Amino acid sequence: MNIQGKVAVVSGGASGMGLEIVRRLVSLGGKAAIFDLNATAGAAAVAELGESVVFAEVNVTSEDSIKAGIEQTMAAFGAIHICVNCAGIATGSKTLGKNGPFPLDLWNKTLAVNLTGTFNVLRLCAEQMAKNTPENADGVCGAIINTASVAAFEGQVGQAAYSASKGGIVGMTLPIARDLSTIGIRVNCIAPGLINTPMFESLPAPVYEALSSTPLFPKRLGRAAEIAHMVTSVIENDYINGECIRMDAGLRMQPK
Ligand SMILES: NC(=O)c1ccc[n+]([C@@H]2O[C@H](COP(=O)([O-])OP(=O)(O)OC[C@H]3O[C@@H](n4cnc5c(N)ncnc54)[C@H](O)[C@@H]3O)[C@@H](O)[C@H]2O)c1
Repeated sequence: MNIQGKVAVVSGGASGMGLEIVRRLVSLGGKAAIFDLNATAGAAAVAELGESVVFAEVNVTSEDSIKAGIEQTMAAFGAIHICVNCAGIATGSKTLGKNGPFPLDLWNKTLAVNLTGTFNVLRLCAEQMAKNTPENADGVCGAIINTASVAAFEGQVGQAAYSASKGGIVGMTLPIARDLSTIGIRVNCIAPGLINTPMFESLPAPVYEALSSTPLFPKRLGRAAEIAHMVTSVIENDYINGECIRMDAGLRMQPK
């Protein structure tokens, strides 16, 4: 898919990887609707990037909220061709810890934002993508990219809910790609390792320091711009479909 002139919905696009993806899409001639809870950061992104970007205050756990964001996007840009899901929360608690069993409300919230939120946004974007005139003889109408994590494969102590939510994103990639193949929409996911974003910076300093040197090579945290580069490569390359791509500099997370 050629990004020039195309319209993307980017959930979680007000911060971190999502914001960097919005910047890169705009630099390649695309337009973007940021779906995020953080209105202040969303307004700052619009001020930075201008009329190619709109902000919709969307909570990905709410169907009504997403529908309102989709309406706003269609009113602003007239179509949706790309959906990138980055909205997510990092949570942690042991299955049975000092304070008792894993709090079920924390489990439910993690799954609701990271997994159900991702599916909720993409299914409503797909509805709009199905209306697009195919870009070429292959019938290209849309591209969806979700954000999993290496925690889908090597979740650490305390990451039962986070890993389940990200494992769900990996697991649903192929069946959704199959569901949407008949209408020219590809579905892929990216599983980042340790990326330097506000989410990662929120870790306690000793954990941050310890984790920063764990990638195999290069021995540093990943950059949001590196993830954004991969996202636009996947959008542009029509022969990548139903795939989960690890981006982790060879990292394999240890139990702690
Ligand atoms: N940073 C890392 O090392 C890392 C590694 C692997 C995976 N990830 C995943 O990448 C994605 C992006 O993470 P990031 O590091 O850029 O984080 P970030 O905290 O910088 O950005 C996440 C954004 O999601 C938004 N958000 C949270 N809950 C929302 C909701 N209910 N509705 C709408 N928006 C909501 C936040 O407001 C924020 O702007 C997340 O899904 C995260 O789990 C991050």
